[in-house]
Amino acid sequence: MESHGKNTTGRTSGVFYKTIGFKFLVVVGFFVFTFSLFTLYYSWSQNDAQMEELLQSQSELALQFNLAIREYVAESIRPFAQEYLDRDDFMPETMSTSFVARSVFEKVRKKFPDYIIKFSSNNPRNPANQASREELLVVDYFNKHPDLKTWSGQLVFDGRPHLAQFSARRMEESCLECHGVPSDAPKALIERYGDKAGFNRPLGEVIALDTVAIPIGKFKSAAITQTARNFLFLMIGLLALLAAIYYAFHRLVGHKLSNISKHFKNTADEDKDFFITPINYKSEDEIGNLAQCFNILAEKSNNVHDNLEKHVAERTKELEDLNSTLQHEIEVRKQQEAKNRQHHELLNSTIESLPHPFYVIDADNYQIIIANSATHSGEWTEDSTCYKLTHQKDEPCGSAEHPCPLEMVKRTGQPVVVKHIHYGKNGNAKNIEVHAYPVFDSSGKITQIIEYSFEIPESKNPEVQSQSQKACAEHTNNAHSGN
Ligand code: HEC
Repeated sequence: MESHGKNTTGRTSGVFYKTIGFKFLVVVGFFVFTFSLFTLYYSWSQNDAQMEELLQSQSELALQFNLAIREYVAESIRPFAQEYLDRDDFMPETMSTSFVARSVFEKVRKKFPDYIIKFSSNNPRNPANQASREELLVVDYFNKHPDLKTWSGQLVFDGRPHLAQFSARRMEESCLECHGVPSDAPKALIERYGDKAGFNRPLGEVIALDTVAIPIGKFKSAAITQTARNFLFLMIGLLALLAAIYYAFHRLVGHKLSNISKHFKNTADEDKDFFITPINYKSEDEIGNLAQCFNILAEKSNNVHDNLEKHVAERTKELEDLNSTLQHEIEVRKQQEAKNRQHHELLNSTIESLPHPFYVIDADNYQIIIANSATHSGEWTEDSTCYKLTHQKDEPCGSAEHPCPLEMVKRTGQPVVVKHIHYGKNGNAKNIEVHAYPVFDSSGKITQIIEYSFEIPESKNPEVQSQSQKACAEHTNNAHSGN
């Protein structure tokens, strides 16, 4: 992102070769380049074939001229000349087809100095007609193929490639006069050419070739130069095309994408809460679609965020309300507790101010719920029962001498007074009058028993005392014997 600040080219990353535009360019470039090379090769090979065809027909034309001249000389001029000359006379200028044709071509060759137009013989009468090594091979070829009249193709002459056209000249009856036995030939011919060269050729043998050969090197190199020039133009065109494609792609795609990604980045960087700014891009292409989709998403996200905020606010409000309610309740409870404590203290100090035992028993399980210190002198705990605390027994009182006031109150629903013998800490027996009163709940059921007791002075009831003492003695015996 180094060149991002002033990114006028709109590249998404600072590196050119990483952009889609460049990748697109490489792909398009590759195909266009390959296609151009193919086109170039195709046009070159077409041109080459066309050029060869043209040269071929040119050499064909030259050969046909040659043959036509020969024919004309043989058929029209030679018979005419022979009419005016003796048998031994010989005038090649009018009688030799080869001489006439060669003379014509020598003039033509001044115009086309690198063209080869000649007669090629392995034993020429005129040394100018000596066949080259390549031509001798063609002579051999024709001798081996007696039916073949002409041959054309590429051959190398003097180290240079030529397009050559050959026509075989075979010995016929009519040729014997001048090319058979030297004694048959006109004397003038022998005088002029001697009696060796061009003689004693067997009938049917190829004695020479009519040769036309055009060097193709310069045409080939011209074609290559032309192709190279075409290639250069094509490459310049290709570069311009690629640049145009890149520019178009950049304008249509890269630039827009880069703007969109910039928008994404800015949105991500902004501290502006959670709000996602929509993209302002109106176009119906794929990028427009992308922007549209982003906007839909942004709107949805914004809505969700708004709802969430509303929801959070509502919940916070609810929690605050709940909190203040709880606070209030705690306050009320605290006050209640303080009041309770006061009541408890009042009750405590009230019962504590009584000099004799005073206690409340749970009607269901004999447990003493509350007792003043005159009752227990310290050994009372919450689960102490009345029979344990006042009689040191492990089960409720129940004998005739020791009737259980709790049972009696529960049975009758009336307060009772009974007499018991209780034992102090030092084991001294005391005559006690126990007063018990029922406590009803709202449904009329006895839930608690209030008991208080006080010692009966001995003088007051000696009978009771002795009775009580007896009962107590019995009771102690029972307890000791485990009854
Ligand atoms: C009246 C004589 C005469 C007759 C008939 C004749 N030629 Fe020749 N020919 C000549 C002479 C003379 C030359 C040499 C011309 C020159 O100076 O190039 C020659 C040259 C040639 C050459 C060129 C090669 C070389 O030896 O210099 C060929 C090929 C040739 N004749 C083929 C033939 C053939 C084939 C026939 C028969 C169809 C034929 N000639 C009939 C007289 C004759």
